[in-house]
Amino acid sequence: MSENNKADVLLGLQWGDEGKGKIVDVLTPHYKMVARFQGGPNAGHTLVFEGKKYILHTIPSGIFHKGCVNLVGNGVVLDPFIINKELDQLNIPLDVLQESLFVCGKAHLILPSHRLLDAAFEKKKGNFKIGSTLKGIGPAYTDKVARTGLRLTDTASESFEDKYNALKQEHLRLAEGLDFDIDELRLDGLTFHDYEKAWFFGLERLKALPRVQSEIFVNEALDKGARVLAEGAQGTLLDIDFGSYPYVTSSNTITAGACVGLGLAPGRIGEVFGVFKAYCTRVGSGPFMTEIRGEGADVLRDLGQEYGSTTGRPRRCGWLDLPALKYAVMINGVTRLIMTKADVLCSMKTLKVCVAYEINGEEKNISPLTTDSDSLNPVYKEIAGWNCTLDNVETFEQLPQPLLDYISMIEDFVNVPVDIISTGADRKQILIRKGAGILKRLSLS
Ligand code: IMP
Repeated sequence: MSENNKADVLLGLQWGDEGKGKIVDVLTPHYKMVARFQGGPNAGHTLVFEGKKYILHTIPSGIFHKGCVNLVGNGVVLDPFIINKELDQLNIPLDVLQESLFVCGKAHLILPSHRLLDAAFEKKKGNFKIGSTLKGIGPAYTDKVARTGLRLTDTASESFEDKYNALKQEHLRLAEGLDFDIDELRLDGLTFHDYEKAWFFGLERLKALPRVQSEIFVNEALDKGARVLAEGAQGTLLDIDFGSYPYVTSSNTITAGACVGLGLAPGRIGEVFGVFKAYCTRVGSGPFMTEIRGEGADVLRDLGQEYGSTTGRPRRCGWLDLPALKYAVMINGVTRLIMTKADVLCSMKTLKVCVAYEINGEEKNISPLTTDSDSLNPVYKEIAGWNCTLDNVETFEQLPQPLLDYISMIEDFVNVPVDIISTGADRKQILIRKGAGILKRLSLS
C-alpha cells in the first residue's frame, strides 16, 4: 500500500491551447494512468508523432502509449457522437481499448439538444456572445448543476429513453422561446435529426467501454503505487470561478477541478505542472490585456499556426502576460513550469512582455482578472528576441542566451522553475533542464 502516493496534475495556465496534449504524450511513458477531469469535446489536444497529427477531444492524451490506462473522469461531459469519431480516428482494436480506456459512469452526457441550446443562447447574446465552441458544454453542465442531467450510468435504466425524450422536449421548448429555428441548425454538418441518429449509434460504442467509478479507480491505483497524471483541458483563465467571467468555459479548469473531477482528496495532489506558451492566445470573446492588433497579430498567428484545433477559428494573439501567469501559478499551486512554442518567436528581433498592470496610477504585478479591463493598462518591458532557429538545439542548456534570459525573467517573476521547454509540435522536440525537479519526480535522475 502507498497511501502517500500522490497524483500529479498537468494543466494550462492561459486561455487553453498551450500545448498540453503534446506534453502529456511526452510524459505518459512515466505514468501508469492519465485521467481527464473536466471539460469535454470543446478541447482539442494535438499530438504529432511519426509524421502524423492526431487531435483528441475527450479521450486522454496517454492513449497512444501501450500499457497506459486512460480514464475519463466524472467531471467530464461526454458527447457519444464525438467520442465515436475519435475512436474511429484512433482505430484501436476493441480488446486493446478494453484495457486502456475507462469511463466514469457519473460523467454527464451532452445531448444533441444541448448543442442546439448552445447555438440558440449564443445567437440570442448577439454582440455579447461568449464565442463558445458550440459543443453543448455550457448547457450540459447547466443540467448537471440543475440536477436534470443524464449520466452515462443512467443509460442502463429502462426509463433512459423516456428521460432522454423529456429532457430533449424541455430543450426544444427553450430553444423555441429563444426564436431559434431548429431547421437552420447544422451539427458537424448534419441536421439535428441525423446527428441524433449518429449520437445514439455512438452511445452504443461508448456503453461498450469499461465503466468505472473514477474516485475508487484512481484512489485504488494510487494505493497500489501507480503513477497517475491528471490532464486538464482549456486553461486557468477560462475557469468558471476564476476566469474572466462570463467569458469562460463551464467547468473548473484549475487544480481544484482535478479533485472534484476525479474524486481525489486535496492531500492526494502531488506536483502541479503548469503549461504556458511563450506568448498568449485566446479564442472567443473576453478581455485580453496583451492582445496585439492588426498586422503584428497576423504575423504571430501564421508563425504559430494559431487556428483552433476544434473549431478552426483564428486565435487572437498577444504578448506574454506575466501578471496573469502569476495569478494562474497562485490559483493552481504550480510547482513546475513547462513552456511551449518558444520556436514560434524565433524570427523576432525584439519582444514585449507585460510586467505589470497599471490601475488608477498604481502598478500591480498580479492580474486582478476582472472583466472590467477598461481601467487597466498593461505595462510592457521590451526585450531582445533570440532571433535564431531552435532546430539544432539539443539540450536546454544550449538554448540561445536571450531565450535563457527570458526564462529566468519568468522564473523570477512567478517564483517557479521552468523545467521543460517544447521547441516544436513533434513528440521529439522537447528539452528537459539538467537537474530539473521533474526528472527526480519521474525517477529519471
Ligand atoms: P465553451 O466551453 O465551448 O462554451 O467555450 C467558452 C469559451 O472557452 C470560448 O471562448 C471558447 O473559445 C473557449 N474554449 C473552450 N474550450 C477551449 C479550448 O479547449 N481551448 C481554447 N479555448 C477554449
